[in-house]
This record gives sequence, C-alpha cells and structure tokens, in this order.
Amino acid sequence: MIEKVKETVAFLRENGFDHPELGIILGTGLGALTAHIEVIKEIGYDEIPHFPIATVEFHKGKLIYGKLEGKWVIAMSGRFHYYEGYSMIEVVFPVRVMKFLGIQKLLVSNAAGCMNLSWKKGELMLIDDHINLQPDNPLRGKQAADFGPIFTDLSTPYDAEMNKLMKNLATKENIPLHEGVYVAVSGPHLETRAEYRYLRNIGADVVGMSTVPEVIAANQLGLPVSAVSVLTDECDPDNLHPVDINDIISTAQKAEKHLVALFKEVIKNL
Ligand code: HPA
Repeated sequence: MIEKVKETVAFLRENGFDHPELGIILGTGLGALTAHIEVIKEIGYDEIPHFPIATVEFHKGKLIYGKLEGKWVIAMSGRFHYYEGYSMIEVVFPVRVMKFLGIQKLLVSNAAGCMNLSWKKGELMLIDDHINLQPDNPLRGKQAADFGPIFTDLSTPYDAEMNKLMKNLATKENIPLHEGVYVAVSGPHLETRAEYRYLRNIGADVVGMSTVPEVIAANQLGLPVSAVSVLTDECDPDNLHPVDINDIISTAQKAEKHLVALFKEVIKNL
C-alpha cells in the first residue's frame, strides 16, 4: 500500500502539487469553499493513479491545488464513503497521499443528522470527539503498519489547538458553533427511531457516515485534524419525520456560508 501511496504522490508532484501546507476534505453538498481557491491545478479522481474508481456520486470528484487565504492547500471536492462499497483502506488513501505530499494539518467537513434536541438543523458543530460504529477500520491488517503505530492513541483525536482556534474565530466572526460528539455509522440508509435513541443514549450529539476513518488515518500519521459537521436534519426519535437525501443536501448548501466563512478564517490564522 505504501508503494501505491508513493506512486500517487510522485504523479501529483509531477503535476504541480508541489508544496501543500494544508489538506481540506469537503463533505456532501459542501463544495462551495473551492470557489474561493486560487486554483493552480485540478485533477479528476479518475485520472489519478491508484485513486479508488469513481462511483456515480463521484463522477465529478476532483483534487484541487491552489492558494487559499495565503496558504497552499489541497482540497478534496468529494470524498469516498464506505457505503459506496470502498474498503476502509480506499476511503483513507487520499489522506495518506496528502500527508506524504507534505500537508501539516487537515480540515474536514461533513453533513450530519442532529440528535441533540437543543440544536437546530442548519447549525454547525465542531467535533470534539467521536464514536466509531463503522464495521471496519483503516488500521486493520498488515498494510497499516507502514503509516504509523497501529495501536494509535485516540485520546485527543481532534487537535486541541486547531479546535481552540475554531472556537475563538467562530465567536469573533459571530458564527454559532456547537461542540460535541459525532458517531459514524456505515449507512447508506438513515436510522430507525430506535437507532437514533440508541445513538443518543451512548453519548453522541450527531450522526453521519464519514469523517471517522479519515480522522483515524490522520491520527496514525501524526497529522493534526479538526472537523466541523453541518447539521442537516433533526433526528428526534419521538417525533421523527421522513427525510429525503435531497433535503439533506439542500440544508447543507443553505448552511454552507457559515462553514465557508469559518474555514477561511481558520485557514488564514493557522
Ligand atoms: N443519519 C446518518 N447520516 C446522516 C444523517 C442522518 O440522519 N443526516 C446526514 N447524514
């Protein structure tokens, strides 16, 4: 696996992705930040050696290299989800590649269902901690030993300094930002009432189908990471309404201006 990572890194370097400082993974419906990047180069995932083969959702997935708020960034417009059929090793492949390309920090966003009933859809939550309920793990198997300790410490999976900066800048910019626990499930279906009740009872504020594998891989690589969820639907097990994935995507897009403002401010100050 490490050979594949190195080959992909060599390809991207040859194609001008030479000195990225920061990686950004943008969640479902959350691509607007890319419009603010002074793009030097962008390459479709299907043209990058060893990148997972695109599914329908990712026909337009691409890696963007350029300058944002004075920093050299690589942004993933579109990520790989476990529910699309990728292995966990494929899901985290781009994180390993970005780290080997030289990024020093990683910013992640996602869309999540909100089980904390004092919060509202359209709001943002900084992830302080997570619970992993996905059925596989990117650190499983022999391949993982090349990327760091397989018994990776996850006592502070989200970087304390980056999270502090997020909170300070959110306050300064008047952007409401909750802080809480994200639980990752495999999906792709949404949860039953009993499952939302269970997920809330085990200590999660929000639920989603991504982010945790990438965060685990980043921690193994010693790469500081910070992640923000956009709350796209309210998941009250005692008053649950059917939700459509299109509603989730349109709520994500409406809430996105706050996320874009926060990420830009954080990138400027990192
Ligand atoms: N459950 C799981 N993933 C999600 C949800 C949800 O309710 N909303 C957005 N992503």
